[in-house]
Amino acid sequence: MLTTYLKILNDHYQALNNEGKDVIQGLTQTPKSLPPKYFYDDRGSELFEQICELPEYYPTRTEAWILRQHADEIAQITGACELVELGSGSSTKTRFLLDAYQKIPRSCKYIPVDVSEGILKSSVLQLQQKYAQLSIEGLIGTYEQALAKVESISVPSRMIFFLGSSIGNFTAQECNRFLRQIARTLKTGDYFLLGIDLQKPKDILEAAYNDSQGVTAAFNLNMLSHLNWRFQGNFDLNLFTHEAIYNQAQTQIEMYLHCLESHWVSLETLNLNVFFEVGESILTEISRKFDLVTIQKELELQGLKTLKIWTDPNQWFGLILCQA
Ligand code: AVJ
Repeated sequence: MLTTYLKILNDHYQALNNEGKDVIQGLTQTPKSLPPKYFYDDRGSELFEQICELPEYYPTRTEAWILRQHADEIAQITGACELVELGSGSSTKTRFLLDAYQKIPRSCKYIPVDVSEGILKSSVLQLQQKYAQLSIEGLIGTYEQALAKVESISVPSRMIFFLGSSIGNFTAQECNRFLRQIARTLKTGDYFLLGIDLQKPKDILEAAYNDSQGVTAAFNLNMLSHLNWRFQGNFDLNLFTHEAIYNQAQTQIEMYLHCLESHWVSLETLNLNVFFEVGESILTEISRKFDLVTIQKELELQGLKTLKIWTDPNQWFGLILCQA
């Protein structure tokens, strides 16, 4: 479906006959892994929204607190600009920024980007009601596709923002590649606003990813349902169990699905049959925890200069405003 307010960027999953290549690659290597982007079918995005409300899951409310405190200042520093949000989901926290930018005289445009059409569509419709002065146009697609699209359209001033510490899903190498791509997309003087989860004691982190209501477990297992419908698979969700551990040495949360019984799984449209050993695990996500000094250096290396950093009283979460 294509409307004036929602653009589908060419077949984000089906793209270029390499649909599912990443799944094949992840499931045929040892140890097995799957890309976190497969969490976010419509059901997965809903479950993620529920995670954000959990008492143990501090990142969302901590970042929202920082944004609420400093949104006006951010808008004052950047002035009117095109706002591009990568992985916008429901855009709930973003409302603090939109409130601030709506107060700025010149009109702004907000471009939320997400792979999940359902959540993007409903949030764009809601935001258009609330923010009549802003022009809002959603892009359905991956970060790479959105950045390529954005790069092709020149505007006087732009801020790309990437909240919630979603950057933590990237390995160090992927992270650098991603930041390079951001830096390439921005013109000199443009802005990048990045939310990052900071290092903290293991028990707080592990509780956030092993919540007592089992929402994170359902979110993790839902990836297998998503693969079942997308690739005509026969994953049995009862044969896997969720676990998240904090790897101190790598300063990252690792989310796994552990296999409870040896069995074969097939994904028909990928022509893939995979054997799972009892006790074998699939790594479905890493969520890296950062320190402000190191990430600043990495940003700087790609030509993104830190203008200002905000954090919360516990220093659990950081928000960094950079300029290209
Ligand atoms: C959306 C990637 C930031 O890593 O905390 C939440 C995803 N996974 N609970 C995170 C997630 C399990 C989340 N990010």
